Amino acid sequence: MTKKVGIDRIGVYVPGEVLAAEKLAEARDTPVAKLKAGLGMHEMAVVPPWEDTVSLAANAGLRALGSDVSPDEIGLCIVGTESGIDHSKASAIFVHELLGLPSTCRTYEVKHACYGGTAALQTACDWIASGSARGRKALVIATDIAKYPPHSAGEPTQGAGAVAMVVAADPTIVELDRRSIGVFAGQVHDFWRPLDMAQALVDGKYSLDCYLDALAGAFADYRGQIEAAGELPQGEHVVLDGFARFLYHTPFPKMAWKAHAMLAPKDWQSNAARAERLGEDLSAAVKADYDERVDGTLWASRRIGNTYTASMYFGLAATLEREAAALVGKDLAFFSYGSGCCSEFFTGRVLPGAVSEAEGFGLEAMLDARRQVEIEEYERHHAEAGLRGAESPEVPPADFVGPFFYAGTVDDKRIYQRAAAGALVAKAG
Ligand code: HMG
Repeated sequence: MTKKVGIDRIGVYVPGEVLAAEKLAEARDTPVAKLKAGLGMHEMAVVPPWEDTVSLAANAGLRALGSDVSPDEIGLCIVGTESGIDHSKASAIFVHELLGLPSTCRTYEVKHACYGGTAALQTACDWIASGSARGRKALVIATDIAKYPPHSAGEPTQGAGAVAMVVAADPTIVELDRRSIGVFAGQVHDFWRPLDMAQALVDGKYSLDCYLDALAGAFADYRGQIEAAGELPQGEHVVLDGFARFLYHTPFPKMAWKAHAMLAPKDWQSNAARAERLGEDLSAAVKADYDERVDGTLWASRRIGNTYTASMYFGLAATLEREAAALVGKDLAFFSYGSGCCSEFFTGRVLPGAVSEAEGFGLEAMLDARRQVEIEEYERHHAEAGLRGAESPEVPPADFVGPFFYAGTVDDKRIYQRAAAGALVAKAG
């Protein structure tokens, strides 16, 4: 019998600074309505010089382990990121050191644009289900800094953050369905970042089409598996009714609307009686369905921006933080998209333990506690990111919660330290 596997613990982390949509709109002479209503962006995470994808990942990982999971229980650590810190060295090995993971823990980084976090999660589930884990757990971390050139169309969709997940047999939060997983992959040039570039190149409008094509393809694959397994009720052709919430990869919140407005009618129309009943009310029905099953998943994304690999998992954490009790026993649909492209449509069931776990995420409190920055400070951080020398005068403020931070690069080697109780304590160097 297939083992029950899934997400046992979740830890979230966002950098400590934020830029309001109003400030970016004013500086770029853009109507703020375009950012807020047009894209769904209300605030954007800003990365100070002492944070990078490694420190974000380690800080999320520490929260996921919490006091319940000992580092010694972790036998696999995978970091999914597309904004890693080295062409060769895995960000995961820095995380391994900072979290005190055992030397017997298989540790590596994966990349496939925003899909990397899901690739890591599915690998971890398979590792556990296969028996290779021998009772151990996996730590999967999706961490990214989404960066486009200032003044570009992509600029308002930037963001940063990390979501860490402990993956285990008989999980506490979400059991992931291992039987039916829809996949769609194919080579497209919608978004990429050549090796010598710090910022992504994107064919913006085309990337929206690629995302929607991949969603249609992955869902068709999923649907085919459900049908082949005879899991649709007699005479019924609608698959999506069974899901309480849809967690779409969210490069900007309006994309989730575009995704649902394409997918839901496609599914409903596969049932002739349903299609006839909806008739001219189709767009009103789609809007009502989006309001009920999608909109509530996006509140954190509106305040953080795109976090690439972590974006869909921030949606999961945000949804559970507000609604776990109402969702226990219900199924969630996930659509993960990584440009280039590879995507998956998969599902999971919310478990009773999600209620108490979600009380400890602290996502909204973390977002509320961030320091608001002005446009000049955001632009300076944007230009200087990754260039921090060891003598940098900028250090984390006394109220930095981290606790891990990037302390600079010496002899081309990156150094991370730990801040404890307001005082900075050297961890590595
Ligand atoms: P843009 O030039 O800002 O687009 O680029 P726009 O002029 O079409 O405006 C956007 C929306 O604002 C439109 O709404 C306008 O109508 C509306 P829509 O028609 O789409 O519903 N608008 C207004 N609304 C209210 N008041 C106003 C107003 N003016 C306009 N005054 C684009 C938008 C998303 C293309 C750009 O931001 C971009 O290139 N972003 C980066 C690429 C991206 O996010 N692609 C998403 C799909 S690919 C993906 O998800 C993968 C990714 O995460 C990377 C990875 O996998 O690693 C990116």
